[in-house]
Amino acid sequence: MIINGHTKILGIVGYPISHTLSPIIHHYLISKYKINLVYLPFEINPENLKFFVKGFKSINNVTGLNITVPFKTVFLQYIQKISQEAQDVGAVNTILKKDNLLWGFNTDVYGFEKSLKINFPKFQIKEKLALILGAGGSSRAIIYSLLTHKIKKIIILNRTLKKARDIKNHFSPYLQTREIKTFPLDYNFLSKNKIIPDLIVNTTSMGLNKRDPTLINLDPLKNRKTIVYDLIYNPLKTNFLKTAEKNHMQYINGLDMLVLQALKSFNIWTGINLEDTLVKDINILRAVCTREI
Ligand code: ATR
Repeated sequence: MIINGHTKILGIVGYPISHTLSPIIHHYLISKYKINLVYLPFEINPENLKFFVKGFKSINNVTGLNITVPFKTVFLQYIQKISQEAQDVGAVNTILKKDNLLWGFNTDVYGFEKSLKINFPKFQIKEKLALILGAGGSSRAIIYSLLTHKIKKIIILNRTLKKARDIKNHFSPYLQTREIKTFPLDYNFLSKNKIIPDLIVNTTSMGLNKRDPTLINLDPLKNRKTIVYDLIYNPLKTNFLKTAEKNHMQYINGLDMLVLQALKSFNIWTGINLEDTLVKDINILRAVCTREI
């Protein structure tokens, strides 16, 4: 890779940022397509975000940015144009600088949907029941995706019940035909309520630490077809996924979603169609990322 006077800048802004795998993913793509781009991590203290945005906007050779925790929602105030999807989710993870304007997108939605399609090709979201753990930024993208694919019912469990209720209110336009219920976290929720979800997604940060306990008891679902999805990719197998495995359930970690949202961001920045080589790229990027974990 040669950096010269024509090099354009991409990056990811978050706090903290040292754990990010995005620069590795994007540099694989930059090398593959031989584009004069560089992708850098920017760790910005939350109180400095406004200065960062001002400075970043003033750099002429900036192409775009990824936005990660904790800025996916607060960044909305800095963009001038927004995709319908990002607006409906209420969060952005990808920014394109075009004609001196910041355009906001949410590629987490694509990442989630495509990862399900690739790993569970027979699974249809339509008319299913999903249990979502967590009510933060990623939870919103997942819930938006499920609603637009005509899920029948979503149950949100969150430590802070108000945040789950806020999400329900946010998505109220969808709720004439679909249903969202909210409850506080309860380890024995499944046995107490005797429900059998088709999909369970952990969107919380519980599991990032290898010693984190699982938030709900999956034992009542032993041998069921329920898909257990943990958005966490480091560690690759959280205690939550280990419990799913022990109960002979289907499960998936967050690595494919990470890779797929990145591929979609790269497509937005460069216009390159990555669909034709998607499976090959995912295989390579899974291995590249796993080496770093
Ligand atoms: P992200 O953008 O990745 O979704 P976030 O918006 O900070 O991150 O959301 C983090 C989620 O993890 C929230 O649902 C949070 O619960 P609260 O709304 O109660 O804060 C959840 N979470 C974080 N730590 C948790 C813990 N120790 N136990 C249970 N839930 C936790």
